[in-house]
Amino acid sequence: MVPQPIPIPSPRVVAASPSPSSQSPFLRHRDSLVALDTIRQPKVLHPADNEDLRLLILENISQEAVSYFRSQGFHVDHHTTAFSEAELLEKIPHYHAVGIRSKTRITEKIIKAATKACTVHPALLVIGCFCIGTNQVDLITAAKAGIPVFNSPFSNSRSVAELVVSEIIALSRQWCQRSHEMHAGLWNKQSKGCWEVRGKTLGIVGYGHIGSQLSVLAEAFGMRVIFYDVINIMPLGSARQVETLPALLAEADFVSLHVPELPETINMISKQELEQMKEGSYLINNARGRVVDIPALIDALTSKHLAGAALDVYPAEPASNGPSFDDQINSWATTLRNIPNVILTPHIGGSTEEAQRMIGEEVSQAVTRYLNYGSTHGAVNFPEIDLRAITAEQGNNIRVCHVHSNQPGVLRQVNDVLSPYNVEKQYSDSKGDIAYLLADIADVSPRDVNKIREALSHTRTNILTRLLV
Ligand SMILES: NC(=O)c1ccc[n+]([C@@H]2O[C@H](COP(=O)([O-])OP(=O)(O)OC[C@H]3O[C@@H](n4cnc5c(N)ncnc54)[C@H](O)[C@@H]3O)[C@@H](O)[C@H]2O)c1
Repeated sequence: MVPQPIPIPSPRVVAASPSPSSQSPFLRHRDSLVALDTIRQPKVLHPADNEDLRLLILENISQEAVSYFRSQGFHVDHHTTAFSEAELLEKIPHYHAVGIRSKTRITEKIIKAATKACTVHPALLVIGCFCIGTNQVDLITAAKAGIPVFNSPFSNSRSVAELVVSEIIALSRQWCQRSHEMHAGLWNKQSKGCWEVRGKTLGIVGYGHIGSQLSVLAEAFGMRVIFYDVINIMPLGSARQVETLPALLAEADFVSLHVPELPETINMISKQELEQMKEGSYLINNARGRVVDIPALIDALTSKHLAGAALDVYPAEPASNGPSFDDQINSWATTLRNIPNVILTPHIGGSTEEAQRMIGEEVSQAVTRYLNYGSTHGAVNFPEIDLRAITAEQGNNIRVCHVHSNQPGVLRQVNDVLSPYNVEKQYSDSKGDIAYLLADIADVSPRDVNKIREALSHTRTNILTRLLV
């Protein structure tokens, strides 16, 4: 199937302000016809040297992602399981891209096998991690081999925020406790210590993708929202940023943590911070396990200083499902499990069908943008660059994608090769030892395409050169 171009509106038809409402319907209709006429279509690019890109997709990645790749004309081999190292070593040299989740490890050995097929044009061009983390990939070796790695860090923000909202109400009404009791046959109807959330204060620590979503949802429930963040952020709705963490802890009825794990956030909620929290307040941690000092939290709960807590993440987490959340994995597990009004969930904050689908969409589009257009926007181990599209009228224009070592003198070499042509646009950036240059060249004949690629591929600092035509 032929990939569909994304229309680029011509600058001539972009309106700076809404049309005056007095404009006649006829004029509005005429303008919209002109606009349609002048929409410019981008040229659909494809690699000059390998027409049929082959993708290896593992670990049951969403069917939507697979369909999207196929709609781009890629050959896709789709497997439901992860591959072992031995299987990958055998299979990977035959593919230009691999899509994995967290169970497939792409080690230095695998990357070497994937790129040794041909030193000028390595077989493997890109890795898509259809998940949040990228620890399973040797990112540095991948970058050195000219392979960008894409992931989807924020597709599940909404899912986490919704889980927190449910926990706020569950803690406030002690309903998880009541449900456990009912399952054990105990009828225990009571209202003491059960509250509405309306009018209560939610303190959000870390007002990023998840924290800000939560802010909007909590206000819809009639909560007051305050937040603390290390950077100044425009509050959403009626939320209010506070200056310090102690100020937030002293004011909030519910404290919800949404910070990354950094040296300064490890144990950021410990004995002292728990003491600063209001009597009868609640702590929720869906961020990272080591942000909370759990033995100190256990003390705050057993002394009844806190009225409850919800935890989705833990300092150590079992590698697979099963009855393994015990004192062997975290020495305090049994004590924590036996405290009333403590909700424990197995790191499911981001685990929804919607999040999986969005991860599939985001990563498949990023991988495709790289293969078809050279864009590294969103790559975790690569300089992130992109160029405005070549338009369909610029039929003989080509795009040079040149990954090279970050060393002095490269631009001179590149310009020597490109100087006989009109370079319409060019952009380069570096990250560590790796640099990446994109350039669009006008009016290049098919014979010159090979000449340019050969010349750039043989420069001293070349890692990978691809030409998109
Ligand atoms: N439970 C789950 O399944 C799940 C799913 C997704 C993300 N997470 C975790 O949630 C956390 C937040 O994710 P996000 O996508 O909102 O991240 P984000 O990067 O969008 O936001 C983090 C915010 O924390 C702020 N911050 C950093 N250090 C801080 C500090 N010391 N004090 C106060 N604020 C600080 C940052 O400025 C930023 O605004 C991460 O730890 C992530 O790993 C958990």
